Parts: sequence; C-alpha cells; structure tokens
Amino acid sequence: MCGIVGYIGKKQAVEMIMDGLAKLEYRGYDSAGVAIVNGESVVNFAKKQGRLSKLEEVLEESPIQGCTGVGHTRWATHGAPSDANSHPHLNTTKTLAVVHNGIIENYMEIKEMLLEEGYTFQSETDTEVAVHLIDKFYEGDLLEAVYKAVACFRGAYALGVVSAEHPDELVAVRKESPLIVGLGEGEYFIASDVPAILKYTRDVYYLENDEVVYVKGDKITILDATGQPVNKQVVRVEWDIEAASKGGFEHFMMKEIYDQPQAIRDTLLRRLDNNRMIHLDDIKLTKEDLEAITKMYVVACGTASHAGLVGKYAIEKLAKIPVEVDIASEFRYSDPFIDEHTLLIVVSQSGETADTLAAMKLAKSKGARVLAITNVVGSSVAREAHDVFYTWAGPEIAVASTKAYTAQMIAFYMIALDFAYKKGTVTLERYHELIDRIEALAPLVEKILENKEAIKTIAEDIKDTSSAFYLGRGIDYTTAREAALKLKEISYLYTEAFAAGELKHGPIALIDQGTPVLCVVTQKALEEKMISNIKEVKARGAFVIAVTKEGHSEVGKVADDIIYIPETEDLLMPVLSVIPTQLIAYYVSIARGNDVDKPRNLAKSVTVE
Ligand code: F6R
Repeated sequence: MCGIVGYIGKKQAVEMIMDGLAKLEYRGYDSAGVAIVNGESVVNFAKKQGRLSKLEEVLEESPIQGCTGVGHTRWATHGAPSDANSHPHLNTTKTLAVVHNGIIENYMEIKEMLLEEGYTFQSETDTEVAVHLIDKFYEGDLLEAVYKAVACFRGAYALGVVSAEHPDELVAVRKESPLIVGLGEGEYFIASDVPAILKYTRDVYYLENDEVVYVKGDKITILDATGQPVNKQVVRVEWDIEAASKGGFEHFMMKEIYDQPQAIRDTLLRRLDNNRMIHLDDIKLTKEDLEAITKMYVVACGTASHAGLVGKYAIEKLAKIPVEVDIASEFRYSDPFIDEHTLLIVVSQSGETADTLAAMKLAKSKGARVLAITNVVGSSVAREAHDVFYTWAGPEIAVASTKAYTAQMIAFYMIALDFAYKKGTVTLERYHELIDRIEALAPLVEKILENKEAIKTIAEDIKDTSSAFYLGRGIDYTTAREAALKLKEISYLYTEAFAAGELKHGPIALIDQGTPVLCVVTQKALEEKMISNIKEVKARGAFVIAVTKEGHSEVGKVADDIIYIPETEDLLMPVLSVIPTQLIAYYVSIARGNDVDKPRNLAKSVTVE
C-alpha cells in the first residue's frame, strides 16, 4: 500500500502534491518523493527515505517550480526503504517519471528483458520496470507508450506518469489499486484516495480497472483498455477530510477490520503462480533443509503470538512438524533448546518489537535458522532474519491489531502448505483444495461484516460489565485468547480466556449472576464438549454469547445470544471466528467512551523491553 498524487493546472504543483501526500501518509510513510515537469529538458525531482517532513526539508533547500507533476508516499513491498527505492522512478535520460501503487507481479521477467536490451536499474523496486518499459515504447506519444507498457504487466497498479517532453500532459492508469481523479477549476488531480484532493475540490471520478486518465492542457479524457473514451459520472464527495482519511469510517480500527478481506487476498493471491502454486519468494528453505529441522519454535508478542498458535496447528497438521509457541519475553530468558537443526519463526507486525528481536538474535547466535513474518518491509526483524514472509496488509494505524493478525494467520497457512508439499505430507489435490478454501475466506469475512449491526447490539448488552471471559477448546481457544486481549486493550475491562476444559479446575469460581462469557464453538470434534461447558457456566448465572458455524442449532439452544458465522474447514475457522470478536471489542470500547484507536498506556510499536 502506497499513496500517489498528481497535479496539472496553473498553480505550483509541488505545493498541491505535498498537501495531498500529507493526507495519504496513512497509506505508507517510509519514504516520499515528487517529480515536476516545467518545460525544461529533464524532469526535476526530489525523493527521500523517511517521513514526508524529510522531503519537505529537501524541497525547502532546493525548491522545484512547475505546474505538472506526480508524488508518492511509500509503504515498501519490493526493496527496503531507501532513497534509491523511493518513488518517483526515472528513465536513464531523466525525461520520464513514474509513481506507482501496487505490485507488478511479473517484474522479474520484464526486468530481465530490459537488462538484455541494455537498460540499467537504480533500485530494487518492481516499479522501476514501468518507467523503463514506457521509455522503450516511447516514440513521441506518451499516452501510446503507457498503453503499450501496461499491456505487459501482471498484477496491481495505479500509475502516474509525466514526461519532460510533454509538460502539459499527465497520464494515469489503474488496475486493482485504487485511483481517483479530482476535477478542479482549470486543474486536475489524480490520487490514491479522496483525502488527498479534498482541500481543492469535491468533484471526483472514481476510476474502474483498466481505465486510463489522459490530461492535455485543460482537457481531460478517461479512456478504456482499448483507447475508447468512457463517459464518467462526476461524484460529489460530501465527507470531511478527517473521515475521508479513514475511508469514511469513524476510526482506523473499523477501517482496518474492513480491510481484512483485501489483506487476505493480497497476502495469498500475489504469491500464487498461474498453476496456483505458492511461491514464497523470500523463503529459501528447501525440502532438504526442512528434513534437517528437528525442532520448530514460533516466538512473538501479544496478538502476533496468537497468530503463532494458529500457525502451530497448521504446521503440525499439514507438515507434520512439532512446533512450540512461546512469547518472546519469556523465550529469550528461558535458555531454550536451540541448535543448527532448529527453525525459529518470529511474527511481528511492526518488525521492531524489542523482545522479538532479542529472541531471534539469541536463536541465531545458537545456530538456528530464522524465518520472520512481518508487515513492514526493511524492518529490523526482516533484516535480521534469514527468510522473510511479508504480510502486505498495508500500514496498521490503530493500536489494536486486526488486519495484521488475519494476514499473519494466512501467512502461516501458506507456509504450512508450502512446507507440507515440499515434505510430501499433503497431496497436490489437498494442496489445491486448501488454497481454494483460503481464497474463499475473503468473501466469507465480508459476509460476517454485513452482520455488524446485530453484533453491535450484543456489544451494547455487555458494555457495563466489569469483567468478561472467553472460552474455547483446541484452535478455538486461540481465538478466545485473541478476543480477550482485544476487548481488554480497548475497553479496559478485565477479560481472560480459558481452555473450556479447565473451568472446573478453578476459573468457574469467577462466574457470577450475569457474568458475560463468550464461547467460540467452531470445531466439529469439540462441539459437544463445549455445549457441556456452556451449560456449566449458565448454571452459575453466566450470560453466554456464542460464536458458532451457521446451522449449528444445538449451540443456539443453550446460549443466550448467538453469532452465526459461515462454515469452512475447521483449521481455517480462526480467520472467521475472530471477526465478530473484533467488532464486539470495538463497539464495547465506543459504548464506554474510549479512544478506540489510541487506547491508554499502549503504543503501536514496543521497541523497549
Ligand atoms: C494487540 C497488539 C499487540 C501486538 C504486540 C506485538 O492488539 O497489537 O499485542 O501484537 O505488541 O507487536 P508486533 O506484531 O508489532 O511485534
């Protein structure tokens, strides 16, 4: 996820673009850049690793004049954050500049072809192939060159292109990555999202896939993939800027809950080839490496450790390798049994968590191989690891983790499947069946989200409680733990999760008249046992809310409130069962008047021990 902005009109483009980028920093903030054309023979540009303020300093020192340009704020996917990898990317003669949001999946093939033709590359990004390819096809017509280049791409892209030879032209194109056009008075904008342009205009075109924007002077044309003009409807945006940067949601947490279907698709689909085989580009573990591994640990903190618990189930069940899960702050001081036959998987959204980093350094020093699952390209955890899986959930702003957790679970399913296939513990048929089912999770999450009003009512029923408990068995106990943490951190209620079978060994003493007990019941083999546990707590006065699969009426008969979720394989149910619990935590927090996105005492990234 990155943000792009473009401007063409009569005002200074840098000013408008920098303003727009500031509104898109939520889409990425590891580097930023601008490119301006103004009649000179080359593009003027500036780009800088770091927050937008760093680029501002550069521009203050060396201002750039001109009325046409593009800008970018980056969330690294290919290539670590650095000045060289920042956008815009330019061709060798510095006459063309491109900004890009998305991933060009076949960039390696294109890069090889361009290298053979003598093109040289300055960055490790997939985007740089776009500018060289446009250069290759350019024969005096910028629009035609862009058309020819995008016809070669596979993947997702929103591109903004300017040329020093065409200072009165701006070309943009969209496929899968978002792009809008702002229609001002004698001026036009392109942007990844509405907030970037709201200060200047409220009239926008929402582009569809394969549509191309072509501005020449004061005339704009929207074209389809074949070059035919498209009649677009102008949409008047009524939101304010604050709401718009959250995609129209009141809080980042809710926006991120809604980002989850896309996070699932991005994490999975971009790693599947045409034969629907998984390619874990930055994981180099071979069949022989896997066979030499005798011990596997998953180490992380908080929510990431809960994803690790799901990972344990997936790896053990599919790849038949025993896995131990530990929290990083314990692991690092536990003198763990590690040698060169150990694989340590660390999970960290931010990639900067101090305990997780220390745990991996310790494991490395004892000879272990380290695989990191992280959301932040170039983060400390990613740099320290031998192998990396990037979750590509996009920046997570709300302190309470939601979409990163979902993407981490998908990462584990994919790693487990890849290991299993390499080891020969799943058949090709089963491998493909599971990939289909993982892909099908995204629309199922969307379906659960449609039910949010009913879940809100349930949350309101428990908002005045002082404590709440969560129960589950097997992999549902993992969801119960994550659900309890989510409610605790943003509602400030005392919550705890228990393995339902442990109840009578102590925790049941906590149950009193009206105590809310949320039960996760999705595992076929454990359903009857869970029904007995629900009856036990109800007999002590508990108010039971159950999350279960559609059609499981037996659970419905014993619970006070029921949330039905769609059915999939038991192993994949944590991706679905966690969604209602995120919504419950969100709504309880709101009902109690808390700051949902910035809960007290917590920080998004815990870089101290
Ligand atoms: C809870 C939450 C935290 C983090 C934990 C690890 O919603 O976000 O529990 O999961 O602090 O952070 P990362 O994943 O950045 O290492």
